[in-house]
Amino acid sequence: MASFITELKRSKYNGEFSTADVGQPAVVFGWVQSYRDHGGVIFIDLRDRTGFVQLRCEPSPHLHAHAVADTVRNEWVIAARGTVISRGTNINPKIPTGEVEIAVEQLQVLTEAQTPPFEVRDGIDTNENSRLTYRYLDLRRPELNRNFVARSRAMQLTRAYFTEKHGFLELETPILMKSTPEGARDYLVPSRVHPGQFYALPQSPQQFKQLFMMSGMDRYMQICRCFRDEDLRADRQPEFTQLDLEMSFVCPEDIYQILEGYVAEIWSQMLGYQLQLPLRRMAYAQAMDKYGCDKPDLRFDLPLSNLTETLRDRVEFRVFADVLAKGGIVKALYLPQGDAFTRKDLDTTIPQEAAPFGAKGVAWARVTAQGEWTGPVAKGVSAELRNELNALMGTAEGGLILFVADKPAVVHASLARLRLFAGERLNLIDKNAWAFLWVTDFPMFEFDETDQRWYAMHHPFTSPRADHLELLDSNPGQVLAQAYDLVVNGTELGGGSVRIHASDVQAKIFASLGLSDQEAKEKFGFFLEALKFGTPPHGGIALGMDRMMMLLTQSSSLRDVIAFPKTQKATCLMSDSPNSVDDKQWAELHISPRRV
Ligand code: AMO
Ligand code: AMP
Repeated sequence: MASFITELKRSKYNGEFSTADVGQPAVVFGWVQSYRDHGGVIFIDLRDRTGFVQLRCEPSPHLHAHAVADTVRNEWVIAARGTVISRGTNINPKIPTGEVEIAVEQLQVLTEAQTPPFEVRDGIDTNENSRLTYRYLDLRRPELNRNFVARSRAMQLTRAYFTEKHGFLELETPILMKSTPEGARDYLVPSRVHPGQFYALPQSPQQFKQLFMMSGMDRYMQICRCFRDEDLRADRQPEFTQLDLEMSFVCPEDIYQILEGYVAEIWSQMLGYQLQLPLRRMAYAQAMDKYGCDKPDLRFDLPLSNLTETLRDRVEFRVFADVLAKGGIVKALYLPQGDAFTRKDLDTTIPQEAAPFGAKGVAWARVTAQGEWTGPVAKGVSAELRNELNALMGTAEGGLILFVADKPAVVHASLARLRLFAGERLNLIDKNAWAFLWVTDFPMFEFDETDQRWYAMHHPFTSPRADHLELLDSNPGQVLAQAYDLVVNGTELGGGSVRIHASDVQAKIFASLGLSDQEAKEKFGFFLEALKFGTPPHGGIALGMDRMMMLLTQSSSLRDVIAFPKTQKATCLMSDSPNSVDDKQWAELHISPRRV
């Protein structure tokens, strides 16, 4: 008996048995999902990464196997040998192997298991911390297990598409690299050999992939890990995986085409969904104006209306008049099915949804018969003005108008949130739809009020539009970049740009970002130097692979598609990282802890 495992080979995975196997001998391995004794016959559901098969252990003639079956408990690892038999009319429609079972002749316990802290099955109601602490048990659950089978397949398809079909080279870039400003906060690694000096972990291999273009590699791809020390949200992790791409001698059209072929292939192979190409495009300015954000979910419409000019000098409603006098704007979200929103929604829920984005309130009006309005704004709007606004928004009886007045950034962010809230509430989001969108023509810079300076909206290696170069000094806010994002159902899946390939333009961008010549030289000197030795025009993009897997598996959190993820506080509950290190390690690194 003891040599059972070494002698025998697994016939197939548990989830693969079917009626075609009836009468065949079988050897199976796996984890005990459940066991039950039905009047002397013991049934065991045996799990592996493919699914379940039922083992049937009769007391005779295989007395020993039955005695072993009587001892097993959940999550024990066992091996069984027997014959595949039909379950006759007693089939289990819930599992794909439900028409057959294995009549066990030999059973062996390979390892016993402690009682797990939560039941290893789908649909459990366990808190996420426990799932993350015992992540290996969580990963055994079919729904999570499936995500990683899908992830593995997506990675293989990705490599094949770019390398085999499109001539990309799969190249690697360093993990220990130089800390450079501009971007998120770096994760730093102290150097033992160079006291007081640090490496940074890459936020992305941006400069290296451009250096590959300067090295003549022409087309680069890498599925790489990136590290960013930023505040985490449901769709952000401190380390995440990018599909990183760069191509020489290309314009944005070439990049769109390659990427569209890629997402079409992935969606077709992974989901059997045929994307309509070319994908839709929208300029950043239009996305902001119409949907209040640069990653609109276009599975439904509900556009915003800009009322600013119509209201100017005519509106009496105090809040709007005050905001307009201060140079702000007023925009509205018109909801045709206004009766889906109660008075409590208007007084509490809706303002609470908008408040985190800075909205000081959300004014509203309900449209009644003959286009008349009720609600706080009604009295402050003349009949004539109201008629114009009704026409502008296309209102009808029963509709609801939500208004936000403030600085553009606050108005847009709050109404974009309310648009999503209303889309969900009104059931306008088709969960089987895929709305892909290229957002193009991003501004080159955005102004940071706190730091009182310009930042690159994408990154400082992005090329401004050639005809906007002269605006760099006079009007940086107006400069558009050759940058684009790929948006899917309201998620930013990827972003990229055509890069600067002239060292003088690159130096000028660093200057626009407020870097002195000295700083630029210190931080980016090698890169500026490299640009001088014959740089091909080039461009690229990076897609968030975790986000892509989240979309493909319809998961609600990145943590469901990253095998060993970090919590919102950037900790690993399973291995307990980050952790403190001993004094000897501090000393070797020439740094000392500031004990708090
Ligand atoms: P960017 O910073 O836009 O571009 O990143 C590209 C894509 O990576 C994903 N992503 C993340 N996913 C999970 N957690 C995070 N913290 C996180 N941050 C970003 C997003 C995003 O669209 N070097 C450039 C690309 C280029 O210009 O080619 C870059 O990194 O899906
Ligand atoms: P108040 O006069 O401050 O009581 O506000 C009257 C109405 O205007 C209320 O419904 C508020 O929610 C709304 N409101 C207040 N500030 C704003 C704003 N900045 N934009 C839109 N509505 C607002």
